[in-house]
Amino acid sequence: MLTSDWWRGAAIYQVYVRSFADGDGDGTGDLAGVRARLPYLAELGVDALWFNPWYPSPMADGGYDVADYRAVDPAFGTLAEAEKLISEARTLGIGTIVDIVPNHVSDQHPWFRAALAAGPGSPERELFHFRPGRGENGELPPNEWPSQFAGATWTRVEDGEWYLHLFTPEQPDLNWNHPAVRQEHEDVLRFWFERGAAGVRIDSAALLAKDPALPDFVEGRDPHPYIDRDELHGIYRSWRAVADSYGGVLIGEIWLPDTERFARYLRPDELHTAFNFAFLACPWDAPRLRAAIDGTLAAHAPVGAPATWVLANHDVTRTVTRYGRADTGFDFATKAHGIPTDLALGTRRARAAALLTLALPGSVYLYQGEELGLPEVEDIPADRLEDPMYFRSGGTDPGRDGCRVPLPWSGTAPPYGFGGADTWLPQPDGWAGLTAEAQAADQDSMLGLYRTALRVRRTEAGLGDGPLRWLDAPDGVLAFTRDGGFGCVLNTSPGPVALPQHRQILLASGPLGEGLLPQDTAVWVRLDE
Ligand code: GLC
Repeated sequence: MLTSDWWRGAAIYQVYVRSFADGDGDGTGDLAGVRARLPYLAELGVDALWFNPWYPSPMADGGYDVADYRAVDPAFGTLAEAEKLISEARTLGIGTIVDIVPNHVSDQHPWFRAALAAGPGSPERELFHFRPGRGENGELPPNEWPSQFAGATWTRVEDGEWYLHLFTPEQPDLNWNHPAVRQEHEDVLRFWFERGAAGVRIDSAALLAKDPALPDFVEGRDPHPYIDRDELHGIYRSWRAVADSYGGVLIGEIWLPDTERFARYLRPDELHTAFNFAFLACPWDAPRLRAAIDGTLAAHAPVGAPATWVLANHDVTRTVTRYGRADTGFDFATKAHGIPTDLALGTRRARAAALLTLALPGSVYLYQGEELGLPEVEDIPADRLEDPMYFRSGGTDPGRDGCRVPLPWSGTAPPYGFGGADTWLPQPDGWAGLTAEAQAADQDSMLGLYRTALRVRRTEAGLGDGPLRWLDAPDGVLAFTRDGGFGCVLNTSPGPVALPQHRQILLASGPLGEGLLPQDTAVWVRLDE
């Protein structure tokens, strides 16, 4: 059962449908695959599923180029199947979060096709940002805005006008100054809430509003022409009114370094929560982890919103790979492959990070495959890569396919029980030990750890939303308590440290010494009274 404030302390599992499970054997994951695996998700013990976009899409950006927000891509199934999935999950006590992409549509969306056909000066073009070019013959783009992906942000169409796209040319940006754009999205929200969605993840939530003059971008000038503009708050207030009328939850994808600006989106009449990327980007370093945690909690406190904790998603290098590198920091722009990686070390740290994350106040996101300890796949042949980030950077950015490889479910060789043999991205050899089947029987596997941790998290009253109190700890060690005598200790220092006085060990991320917590290990304890 989802209570009305379930989202404040939820464990939410991210399903990248294309790679989760393939029900019809064509090598692409689908809703039938998810429905068949609902028991797995229920056993894992998550409260909700967030689905990456499942709408009809030419897949120029993995489905973030949406052609119809009210349907399901035939490769994934049908709308009726999505409705069944939502209600079956609900029966298991699992809510569904759909992904809404408001910044842009697909170039195949009827609105954009109509805009192209209608020509310059037409009302259809006003739904987007069409402009004449600069230069003598309009041959230069209307301005010089940096792209969110490498490459240009403007594309010229046959009649000579240019249109804006912060991402790929197949993702034209909508004009959020237009009332029809606002109206349409509120209707789309209602559409999914009426079909039982418990929440909505808002893609690129801080990018929608543009300075209507479309001025050149000048470093440091305030306000930014398209990031974090004040107009956004009015948009999200009206979304909140819609969400509240269904008891639905709004979750923003907001990458902003300024925590005070970030928290403005979480005021009581705006979004419920937003992803906290500062924690994800933090290297494996106790003082920096603590600073990220404190900074996050301090930013959320004044607005009364719970924090969210994320270690991975479909856009970033997989956790065990990141933590297996000397510099575990993450930079969205310079994601690299081929860096020396110690996967055993990365896995040990990822296990410890899982216990840290699941013990922090607020909600937690878990990206499919994280519970299996999957590494980034770094050797996908170039002719199989799909991510536009790779192509638009001329191959200097490896792109995000490496964290989107179809999951291994069972067996010893590809497709590892995923479904059809011809998986849309190739799976590597060597994943036999990482399948859900191989790990299910083993308490000490990553899957075993996640299952136990999520179970404890549900039964411990002090976990999820609520206060955290730091304990004194040696250098390199983080120790804190939650209500109910719960304690969490993480040791990132080079040697073992003494465990705190405790009555009971609830769970450890790795083997413990006699009264000792080894390096790169975390433990959950019931503290002495
Ligand atoms: C978000 C998504 C990412 C997508 C981009 C454009 O950052 O998470 O996958 O490429 O928005 O929609």
